[in-house]
Amino acid sequence: MSHTRAELGSRFSTAFVTGASGGLGRAFCECLLSEGVDVWGTARAPERLGIWPGPGRFTAVKLDLNDRRGSEAAFAAASQAAGGAFDLVIHNAGYGLFGAFEQVAVDQWEAQLQAMVVTTMRLNHAALNQFRSRTPAGGTLVNVSSLAVEFPLPYLSGYNVAKAALSALSESLIFETRGSGVTVIDFRPGDYRTSFNQAMSTLAASPDPLLQPYWRTLEANLDAAPAPARAAQDLRRALLRGHSGTVRSGSFFQASLAPLLASLVPASWRRRVQRWYFGGR
Ligand SMILES: NC(=O)c1ccc[n+]([C@@H]2O[C@H](COP(=O)([O-])OP(=O)(O)OC[C@H]3O[C@@H](n4cnc5c(N)ncnc54)[C@H](OP(=O)(O)O)[C@@H]3O)[C@@H](O)[C@H]2O)c1
Repeated sequence: MSHTRAELGSRFSTAFVTGASGGLGRAFCECLLSEGVDVWGTARAPERLGIWPGPGRFTAVKLDLNDRRGSEAAFAAASQAAGGAFDLVIHNAGYGLFGAFEQVAVDQWEAQLQAMVVTTMRLNHAALNQFRSRTPAGGTLVNVSSLAVEFPLPYLSGYNVAKAALSALSESLIFETRGSGVTVIDFRPGDYRTSFNQAMSTLAASPDPLLQPYWRTLEANLDAAPAPARAAQDLRRALLRGHSGTVRSGSFFQASLAPLLASLVPASWRRRVQRWYFGGR
């Protein structure tokens, strides 16, 4: 048991994880720390991060993806403290905005794309340059996308766009880094029981009754979903395999069966089943 627990620590000395204050990010940090990896974890209010058990050491970092320059400066400072480059960088932070596309204020979804796509791409850029400038070159990048790339979530258009863009970036980097010593993982979780819905619930109080069944289904799905520790175990296995690629994580139905079935039927069938699944019209 103790041998297994040290495995991540023998491959990665240092890791940078965005969105460490709860949910999946917290589970990733706990898993890494428990196997001896030193972790720099971020939150917009770092005092929310608290004290973490080892044996790895935890350093709290203030990072708000809506502050592009501040995010880059925070990553640069943490990298310096970690010896110039991280072994592992997990871009996990993100949030949803629930509402019909035309009802969400333009500034809100633009800010969402700035945070979840543009700033996240800039942080990928910085991490990749660090990996490339090492001798020998190397490092692992994880972009936490979503199964929403394959099964877009109802009334979360900005989120669906952001995750599709992030997966497209990962796919591009998987191609570009082949044989370079750099590993890139496009990590796509299905539903996990986190505070994700609470973080966006203000918009869920939409007066449009057409949207309410979808919101209720989103809430019920997350309530019944697996705990984030399972996603951490899926990511752990992928990190230990050490290959670039797409990793789906979640219940057997969402992460295995649905993608297989969807690949066998026309898109119109997939849309019909999705409408039924979300309890909408
Ligand atoms: N839960 C799911 O079912 C699910 C499914 C697929 C994909 N995902 C993805 O998994 C990732 C983690 O989500 P979660 O479910 O763990 O949600 P969560 O519990 O709400 O955690 C989100 C994390 O992101 C951080 N964050 C949010 N907005 C940020 C911003 N503007 N700048 C910097 N940090 C920000 C939050 O930190 P602070 O608020 O403390 O700053 C928090 O640590 C997200 O990218 C999400 O899209 C989740």
